[in-house]
Amino acid sequence: MKWAAWAPGKTILIGEHFVVHGAYALAAALTKGVTVQAEPFTTSKIISEQGRLRADSLEDAPDPLKPIAAAVQATLRHLDENRGVALTITSDLPRASGLGSSSAVAVASVAATATSLGHQLTKQELAELASVSEKMVHGNPSGVDVAVAIHGGLMLFKKGSTVKPVHLHGTVDLVVGVSGVERRTKVMVEEFAKMKNKYPNSFMGMVNSSSKFSQLAAESLVKRDLETVGSVFNYQHTVLKTFGMSTDLLDKMVEEALRGGALGAKLTGAGGGGSIIALPPNSRAGQVVQALRAVIADAFITKIPAEGVKTWRQRS
Ligand code: MEV
Repeated sequence: MKWAAWAPGKTILIGEHFVVHGAYALAAALTKGVTVQAEPFTTSKIISEQGRLRADSLEDAPDPLKPIAAAVQATLRHLDENRGVALTITSDLPRASGLGSSSAVAVASVAATATSLGHQLTKQELAELASVSEKMVHGNPSGVDVAVAIHGGLMLFKKGSTVKPVHLHGTVDLVVGVSGVERRTKVMVEEFAKMKNKYPNSFMGMVNSSSKFSQLAAESLVKRDLETVGSVFNYQHTVLKTFGMSTDLLDKMVEEALRGGALGAKLTGAGGGGSIIALPPNSRAGQVVQALRAVIADAFITKIPAEGVKTWRQRS
């Protein structure tokens, strides 16, 4: 019998990088994500349609599939399973773009593996098993990407603490602009942390401020005070730029989004390439997408809140 799991990508509204050092981040699930189809099999294999990659065994996966193979192996061990699974991964999320693609693949793969073999994992187990992959990709992840892929919605996330869901009245449109420049989160996280060694007290001061801005943005979204959220976006982009996380293209995208009427715009995720987000005024998201398309090919509208991981049985 075939099963499938879907997990969303994520966007960090406020607090990327600072979250690795203990600040709150405000993060939301995207309406785009990753689907993994699974069925029990004698051995295990993974086919990634988007990347046209395949692993005919978990031990011998090509480099890009190694993190997923490791998470699936950990899941089978955890479940004490001697059966295998055949997994097929499809995605409408751009890879290596700061939108949580690797975590969405990990969460959906672990969930699909367990469900197809008749097991149910708790959210805690799912997070621990998906993190096996995430640690290989990121080195020192905060865990925010995995938490969003599992829980969905909008949340205040702090490393090592329980997730604080933020409940909105109605939905909020957010525009995502993808630069098309791939980057490595691990490299950016290491670059950002250099400032900590040089100026540890100022650095921790900034971590504390970032936490407060995440909380302010969360409260403002609940009150639908989009102007305040937009101001925090603009301020945070400049802070991340000062830390060397932006690029000329990302700055240009932010500029275009603001020219198109956005209340605020900033890079999202690790930076160095990847994506930006822009907060449009009510019902003006289309106009901001158009403005962004003057400089990049890929811009789309996502809605907050969006769902977290889900599984279902497929018709055969
Ligand atoms: C990556 O999506 C977000 C970073 O803050 C790293 C992390 O939280 O693990 C840059």
